[in-house]
Amino acid sequence: MRVNKDQLKRMKKNEFVRTAIEYVDAGVVITDPELPDNPIVYTNNGFEKLSGYSADETIGYNCRFLQGQDTNQDDIDKLRLAISNKEKIKLEIKNYRKNGEVFWNELQIYPVFIESEHQTYFVGVQQDVSKRKYAEERSDHYLEQVKRLSTPIVPIDRNVSIVPVVGEIDDERLELLLHNVSAHIQKSGDEYLILDLSGVSHFTSQLHKGVYQLNQLIKLMGAMLMITGIRPEFILEGIESDFSLSTVKSFSSVKQALVSIQ
Ligand SMILES: Cc1cc2nc3c(=O)[nH]c(=O)nc-3n(C[C@H](O)[C@H](O)[C@H](O)COP(=O)(O)O)c2cc1C
Repeated sequence: MRVNKDQLKRMKKNEFVRTAIEYVDAGVVITDPELPDNPIVYTNNGFEKLSGYSADETIGYNCRFLQGQDTNQDDIDKLRLAISNKEKIKLEIKNYRKNGEVFWNELQIYPVFIESEHQTYFVGVQQDVSKRKYAEERSDHYLEQVKRLSTPIVPIDRNVSIVPVVGEIDDERLELLLHNVSAHIQKSGDEYLILDLSGVSHFTSQLHKGVYQLNQLIKLMGAMLMITGIRPEFILEGIESDFSLSTVKSFSSVKQALVSIQ
């Protein structure tokens, strides 16, 4: 029986779509949820390249073979829920290639209703985003280090610690400083904290308020704040502000502050 014009058009369209998908760099899989365990019924070249598995090795199997020991269970739960609700989903999941290599898979899954078959299929699009993920992980790690190093608390005597502040102080750094100092004093039981501001580039009103808050906090914890290395304009600004530093002990150098403690 010869196909009619409409069928011919549809076949051509199917072939066109199939060829186009084969040229896509990303992995593309189609699964059939009407079959037991929602197995793959189609994969493109991109998927073979990404996963290392040939189409013969994957057709008929559920995509979970890409998961492994380090795949986050929460991600798998999210996928299961979205698929059972026939909702689209996009997430980044740790997967494994055939050779055991781990990669970050940016996975998108769409339920697609195929009119002619009166059935919903799932289309999955996979992209290897490992490079970006590892770069993000590295930069998060460095940012964490920078933050930690931006408010170092150095114990210099039995009951004295010093915080050398270098550079500019913004809200985030101030909050970190208050948090770290209170945790440190609670743990160490230090009686004195020297805040050395000789490395500060700008004496802003924000820093002024921060020193005031730090002083209040330290007093409440039964310890004493001493500031060193400040410039006269810093004190002058405080006279007019709501955050007077008149009760904060100030010294021109760390050495002087230490002498006064002894
Ligand atoms: C179209 C489609 C593509 C999928 N692709 C992947 C994939 O690339 N990586 C992955 O870890 N899971 C993928 N999955 C999810 C798993 O097949 C499975 O649904 C998930 O592990 C949750 O179900 P389970 O708890 O029964 O394993 C895909 C699912 C569908 C429907």
